[in-house]
This record gives sequence, structure tokens and C-alpha cells, in this order.
Amino acid sequence: MVTEIKKITLESLLEAKEILFSSGVIGMPTETVYGLAAIGTDSEAVKKIFEIKGRPSDNPLIAHVHKDYDLEKLIYIDQEYAYKLIEKFMPGPLTLVFRSKGIVCKEATCGGDTLAIRMPSHKGAQELLKAVDMPIVAPSANLSKHTSPVTAEHVYADLNGKIPLILDGGKCTGGIESTVLDVTSSHPRILRAGLVTKEMIEEVVGYCEIAEHKEGDKVKSPGVKYKHYRPKCETLLFKENEIKEIKKAYQEEVVSGGKPYIMCSSVFAKNFEGFNLLQLGLSGEEIASNLYDKLLEGEKVATLIIGVEMPSEDGVFMGIMNRLRKSCG
Ligand code: TXA
Ligand code: MG
Repeated sequence: MVTEIKKITLESLLEAKEILFSSGVIGMPTETVYGLAAIGTDSEAVKKIFEIKGRPSDNPLIAHVHKDYDLEKLIYIDQEYAYKLIEKFMPGPLTLVFRSKGIVCKEATCGGDTLAIRMPSHKGAQELLKAVDMPIVAPSANLSKHTSPVTAEHVYADLNGKIPLILDGGKCTGGIESTVLDVTSSHPRILRAGLVTKEMIEEVVGYCEIAEHKEGDKVKSPGVKYKHYRPKCETLLFKENEIKEIKKAYQEEVVSGGKPYIMCSSVFAKNFEGFNLLQLGLSGEEIASNLYDKLLEGEKVATLIIGVEMPSEDGVFMGIMNRLRKSCG
């Protein structure tokens, strides 16, 4: 199969729609990461997503809808506070988990009785969703375990030959996946940290729990138990107070003929003049938006990426640290 990358135009949207309505799968942009899209009520198409990615069959998909879509066609809103979150954060990088009405097929929800829903704010994503006017299920458009794609070219690198079309909506501005929030019980629970932070949620609803995932627990959000986001080269992870250890690991890699890169914030990078660097930027938002891009840039040139943790886990840094530990830890 030939994989084409096309800018979003009326013509390419029409083509995307035709592919989706004949049980095909395509790459699509969102403001967080690129998605691998199929119509959520089409079992045959949804099965293809799992095959193409090599995704474990017990890890459910997020259903994406346009901003005027009536969510209650797909799910039950059991908690009053959920309306406030919808009002405040949708469209945007927040995914809410509700009790499903079973319209989205069981292949997408992995037989579970809940459905995760998100309204991406990306303009091109909205245009596609509006044109289709159906829930589109879409995991990140990478091969399972690999780093999530934030450009159409990243999707192409993983899925060339496996899908007919990638809609190119430019580089994702968010850079890490949406926050996944369970809103089925009396208070919300963060299942996956992301750009909508605990602090932001608490400002709207008062209290928000963070789901702890301990070994042996029955996992509420299956995705969190798998290896994720890993670049193709070797990786290490250090804390910012381990400058000596970072330099030692770097030198050892050089001595053994390898090419190490240090991936860290632009402030911390000042400790490493003359070293190969993957600089992530200054603010949390900037660092999030560069993280996967730098990992994917790094894997092309480095034999070893030495990741450096962030000094804080507040706000958006919680989501960043979660990805750093999984990609480099
Ligand atoms: O930003 C994003 O969320 C991107 C873009 C493409 O929208 N999508 C994405 O999908 O990250 P994926 O499949 O890579 O991650 C979805 C996460 C997984 O951790 C999965 O276990 C969880 O959401 N999830 C999906 N449905 C769920 C459900 N019904 N209950 C609990 N967790 C669910
Ligand atoms: Mg993913």
C-alpha cells in the first residue's frame, strides 16, 4: 500500500471520509499527538487499528467527536461535575471516561462498559470530525511501545505502507497525550496525566484524585501498564543533581565508540557546553511540546539518549515526568 501525506483541504477531507466510510484507517492530526483513526462503530476498521499498531487487545481506544456533537448519544453523564469539566475544557486536551451506551463498538472499548471521549481543538481534526459526524476512535499513530508522533512525517516513519493516507495538520502544539480523567464516580480521578493538570481540574471541581498504579493492581486504564514512548536507541535517566554521573555515562558512551545526547531543559543544558544536546525548552508547555519531537530526532543520530528529570512534578510537569520515566527510565 502506498501511504500519501496530504495537507488538509476540502479535497483531502473528502478522500479521508471515503476511506473511513469504507472501513479504512488513516493518520490524523490533533493538538496533542497524531492519531490513527477509524470510525468507532465499525468493528472491522477498529480491528485494523490494533493490527497496524501491534496494540495489546485489552487497551481501549479514545473516541473523538466534533465540538457540536451531542456526547449523550454515546455515554451517560452520571456526575453533575462532569458538565463543568466539559464546559471548561472541551474542545481541548482532556479525555473523559464515562459509562458507555454501547454505540461505539466493543472492539474499541475492549468489551468494557466505559467509553473515553475527547474533543480535539485542532482545526483540521475538527474539520474531519465535522465532515464525518461520527465518533472517530484514534490511539496515537505510532507502532505500539514507540514514541508518539507529533508530525505527519513521524507517522509516516512508523506506518508507511500500512495506511493509505496521513492528513498533515502541521506539528502538534501540545506535544504529549491528553489527560485521561475518570468521571464515573463521586469525584474525578486522573488515569493519565497530561496538559490539563490536576490543579486546573481542581479549580473547576474542587478535588481530583490521582490514580495510583501499583504492581498487581487491577488496572483501571490498561494503557498505563505497558512499556511506552520508547525511542529506538538506548536510554538512561538521571536527576538534575547527578551532573557528575551524567558526564560519566556520557564519557563512557563516547569511549565505547557511541554517540550520546543529553536531553534536558534549556536551563539545565547550560551545565553541558560542548556536549551533544537535545534541548527541550524553558516552560512546562514548551518542554511538553518538544519532548517527543526531540526523542524522535535523537533516535536518528544518537546511540544513547541521556534523559534528565525535571526539578518539579507540579502542573504539566507531572505529565512530562510520566513520559520521561517511561521513555528513558
Ligand atoms: O491525546 C490523546 O489522547 C491521543 C490523541 C490521538 O487523541 N490519543 C491517545 O490514545 O493517546 P492512546 O490510545 O495512545 O491512549 C489512550 C489512553 C490509554 O492509556 C487507554 O488505556 C486509556 O486512554 N483509555 C481509553 N479508553 C479507556 C477507558 N474506557 N477507561 C480507562 N482508560 C481508557
Ligand atoms: Mg499511545
